[in-house]
Amino acid sequence: MPFGSFKAALEDGFKNGYAVGQFNINNLEWTQAIVEVANEENSPVILGASEGAIKYMGIEYVGAIAKAAADMSKVPIILHLDHGSSYDMILKCIRYGFTSVMIDGSHYPLEENIALTKKVVEACHPLGIHVEGELGRIGGVEDDLTVDAREAALVRPEEAERFVKETGVDAFAPAIGSQHGHYKGKPNLAFDRLEKVRDLTGIPLVLHGGTGIPDEDIRHAISLGVAKINVNTENQSAFTNVIREIFDRDKEVYDPRKYLGPGRAAIKDAVRAKIRLFGSAGRA
Ligand code: G3H
Ligand code: ZN
Repeated sequence: MPFGSFKAALEDGFKNGYAVGQFNINNLEWTQAIVEVANEENSPVILGASEGAIKYMGIEYVGAIAKAAADMSKVPIILHLDHGSSYDMILKCIRYGFTSVMIDGSHYPLEENIALTKKVVEACHPLGIHVEGELGRIGGVEDDLTVDAREAALVRPEEAERFVKETGVDAFAPAIGSQHGHYKGKPNLAFDRLEKVRDLTGIPLVLHGGTGIPDEDIRHAISLGVAKINVNTENQSAFTNVIREIFDRDKEVYDPRKYLGPGRAAIKDAVRAKIRLFGSAGRA
């Protein structure tokens, strides 16, 4: 089928209390793994392509591989730019067939973030492309934040209300204390802020840094309006751990299919567990 609608998928999740997984892609095997599991679980799914992955794979390959996967799929597949950094990058992605984009202006002052995100929405909406925006700072685990710095990095609900109203985004990613990469300790999510943001914005919310968040926190976040959850690092680890084991065990292996195949199977297992946890299985 043609690419699915980002907005329709997220709004259904938002209304019915489940989240659609965004799983980042890095190559052909990743795309195959994610799309195969989505079909087996009868779940919509979002293929996330970061600017780094696009640079690595080549945007022509990203667009073509994702389109081939969607064409063969019986469930909606959405191709989404992850953490887009500029207006030019957004236009480039639209040219290569992306159906939704994230513009990440979270490192700019609020006014500039609003202006950039609004400009992206105005370019995208007439073309039927949906937009995700972000406010606050979703750091990496390398950022050791003090309590004050953590507070400063979290989204301010009143600013979120203004951001969503003035930009017209279709989905909103508030910084609530989640981080990219493996967590050092237990994640500490600001559910009180998430609830306020949900009440003030009324649109589907996005949780970044989905790797390593305990199941009960994921369910809690979904109950407070999160309808899209991004996962990348967990799949990277699953893939690499299996391949490392094979190399440790077998010093003679040279046929890439002998390790890329098991790597792909490991991603399938990891994605299947997330799709079931997020509640999107059976929702396609
Ligand atoms: O945008 C991508 C995600 O937020 C992935 O986060 O690598 O911690 O799973 P993660
Ligand atoms: Zn992210």
